[in-house]
Amino acid sequence: MKICVLPGDGIGPEIVAQAVRVLERLREDGLALEMETALIGGCAVDACGEPYPEATRALAREADAVLLGAVGAPKYDALARAQRPERGLLAIRKDLDLFANLRPAVLYPELAHASTLRAEVVSGLDLLIVRELTGDVYFGEPRGIRTEHGERIGFNTMVYSESEIRRIAHVAFRAARGRRRRLCSIDKMNVLEATQLWRDVVTETGREYPEVALSHMLVDNAAMQLVRAPKQFDVMLAGNLFGDILSDEASMLTGSIGMLPSASLDAHGKGLYEPIHGSAPDIAGRDLANPLATILSAAMMLRHSFGIEEAAVRIESAVRRVLAQGMRTADIFEPGTKKVGTAGMGDAVMAAL
Ligand code: IPM
Ligand code: MG
Repeated sequence: MKICVLPGDGIGPEIVAQAVRVLERLREDGLALEMETALIGGCAVDACGEPYPEATRALAREADAVLLGAVGAPKYDALARAQRPERGLLAIRKDLDLFANLRPAVLYPELAHASTLRAEVVSGLDLLIVRELTGDVYFGEPRGIRTEHGERIGFNTMVYSESEIRRIAHVAFRAARGRRRRLCSIDKMNVLEATQLWRDVVTETGREYPEVALSHMLVDNAAMQLVRAPKQFDVMLAGNLFGDILSDEASMLTGSIGMLPSASLDAHGKGLYEPIHGSAPDIAGRDLANPLATILSAAMMLRHSFGIEEAAVRIESAVRRVLAQGMRTADIFEPGTKKVGTAGMGDAVMAAL
């Protein structure tokens, strides 16, 4: 099992280092894991002039899975669009055809008070956002900024083909089948044709999954329902843009964006695993970042790419144990718990393993 490790920028290297410790422990205990590191994002721009260099592409293509930290820093904001760190992330998603993004939002009972919503609204929350990741307005053409009649016009194209919608719908229905069997598909069909097709194709695909209760919701209502009564959702299916927005919103229901892992999968089980948070340049290098989302991303890798459920559960149980022990990084700290740094949290997880 060959893993391409891409620490990236900001807090990326610190949090990935803790996840790598966990994977190394599993290797010592007998898993045939191999890890090799490469550059992506701003650090790749600094070293090679581009955010997804050829050497990284080659390593990522031949690996069975990719573990990524985060990309981006303010110092790159002035660069041309093609050289920005975020482009590296979009490029690797497209290059590896990672169209299925799984973003679970699970509230650990110990963190019910870390949420900005009342504990009774979020306690027991367990929802999964399935976000399409290689289409939509993110990649649609034409796109750009042109000048017409002396003023600038910015334009993008929201576009989905039937096959793109169908393949992500299958992923969502299968996920729902293994959970509480409810799927809510998100669109804006009252205004946008591309999302009318989305609704139609999801409905058609649903005929193959009679055991899953399918509903549809307009994205504005979904954003509202997520903060009003989030526990009504089991699996939410959304296109690239709406999924991006709703997954950030859902993450905050759980108290900390620092807790949530994600998987981005192709059609054959290859995947890229990353925390859903960003590179947090303001706290980079200060031993403050929460490594748990990255450690939990490694658990998702073992489950989804390698099919080693016991190892995934072993990591997830260790994380639950350190939370139960009261270990907290600054982002989830509350009075009465024990504040630890990035490495200290890694130590606690290693001990719990
Ligand atoms: C995410 C991020 C990315 C996205 C950015 C960094 C390009 O927000 O993974 O959700 O928009 O997909
Ligand atoms: Mg996002």
